[in-house]
Amino acid sequence: MTHEILAETFDRWAAAGRGAEMEAEHGDVARQVLGKLKIRPGEQILDLGCGTGWTTRLLAKSAAGTQATGVDISPAMVAEAERQHSNTIRARYVVGSFEHLDLPEGRFHRVFSLEALYYAPDLAAALAELQRVLRPGGAVDVVIEYYAENTRTEFWPQKTGVPMLRLSEAQWREAFERAGFVSVSTERIVDSRGLGEHASFTPSECYPDWDTWCAVHRSGFLWIHAEKPRLS
Ligand SMILES: C[S@@+](CC[C@H](N)C(=O)[O-])C[C@H]1O[C@@H](n2cnc3c(N)ncnc32)[C@H](O)[C@@H]1O
Repeated sequence: MTHEILAETFDRWAAAGRGAEMEAEHGDVARQVLGKLKIRPGEQILDLGCGTGWTTRLLAKSAAGTQATGVDISPAMVAEAERQHSNTIRARYVVGSFEHLDLPEGRFHRVFSLEALYYAPDLAAALAELQRVLRPGGAVDVVIEYYAENTRTEFWPQKTGVPMLRLSEAQWREAFERAGFVSVSTERIVDSRGLGEHASFTPSECYPDWDTWCAVHRSGFLWIHAEKPRLS
């Protein structure tokens, strides 16, 4: 049932053009993180909660021969990702849930996920799926703006209308460690474009006023890095 609600909600977001808004809002942070990942030629990369697929396409262009697969619960998001697809890159988009990935075991060198994993109705099941589809030594990089220390995001579930996991930085690390990941670390990434001008600030659902926007911006996005253990 929760998956149906998630799909319906994000189908509406896709129809309302929220994919382009998310790209504008998160593009700088996504590029900062992607610039720090040492993506090697030929890597198979999973983009979890890909939305309209703009990060999937960035991942596919990040090194020669990289192949990126975007997964999203919303058929409308995936349809929009396919519409925006370019045949010059190796990217594909599939409808699926974090908790049941219809993807082969050990397929991926890395997983990337932006502003999505806190929607998981069952985080433990989602992390177990990541363990399954990653190769030994594979990496996960999750980037989220909704986390407990970012206090002025607390009202977001009332706006989205879907449950959202509100974990602290330490709780995210614990969840990954409990799922068997190693080398788990966290870092904050602040949008390098800065706050902008107060006079030209436009309120939105998540940033309804200037004070909220300033607080959320300064707190930054939480970047969680984790690795699947190598075979000994
Ligand atoms: C806030 S959007 C972010 C999309 C994209 N990563 C971006 O930054 O533009 C969250 C996405 O996660 C997807 N999603 C939420 N819960 C999901 C789940 N349990 N399984 C798969 N996708 C899910 C939604 O459909 C939505 O497209």
